[in-house]
Amino acid sequence: MKQRPIVTLDGPAGAGKSTVSRAVAQRLGYVLLDTGALYRCVALAVEQTGAHAADESSVSAVAERLASDAAIELAGSSVLLRGQDVSRAIRVQSVGELASRISALPAVRAALLDLQRSFGASGGIVAEGRDVGTVVFPDAEAKFYLTASTEVRARRRHQELSERGESTTLEAVWREVVERDERDSHRAIAPLRQPEDARLIDCSSLSVDEVVARIVARVREIEDPLRDGAAPG
Ligand code: DC
Repeated sequence: MKQRPIVTLDGPAGAGKSTVSRAVAQRLGYVLLDTGALYRCVALAVEQTGAHAADESSVSAVAERLASDAAIELAGSSVLLRGQDVSRAIRVQSVGELASRISALPAVRAALLDLQRSFGASGGIVAEGRDVGTVVFPDAEAKFYLTASTEVRARRRHQELSERGESTTLEAVWREVVERDERDSHRAIAPLRQPEDARLIDCSSLSVDEVVARIVARVREIEDPLRDGAAPG
């Protein structure tokens, strides 16, 4: 019996999920599962092998091989791909873009599903992504959907990329955010959508601390009855 809940945070690019989920996991002493990092690792591996993103069978084969070799490791804040630290390499814009494209392929999603679920088997996890509350952990006890206006998300993303030394314009990032939303929300399989039982948090005018405090407070409410063996209310 799980004694600590599974916490899911879904939402579009740039809503602040990464920063918030890291802080929530730290405050609660939970494991963080950044599912986007897994898709980004597949994208990086696809880029490295020179496979074309539209070549479904090659891309699927790359994803299946990575999963069966257990080649992706999330070690604290580091991401390892076949033992190499790719934490920075997976964050560049081109890899994010490719991750969004290849994540629409059913075989890629299937290859990463068991891996994601294995992280949550005993609870005490904060999972963030696009379908963690709908598909990966549909029975999660604490679900949140984080969003923010397109402008806020584009500005945030632009600042993040600039701080990492990527030269790009706000207009280009804005366009990319809109395209990514469109693709992630309209793909046939596991599209981005708010789980019915998720709490919606609009982060447009809330600070990170405020968002984190709301989530932590809700998880604490759920933790107590779980620990006592009762269903959370
Ligand atoms: O959250 P992120 O920007 O690191 O995710 C990169 C891409 O990976 C995103 O555009 C869509 C895909 N993704 C997904 O399809 N499902 C998830 N649970 C997480 C990410």
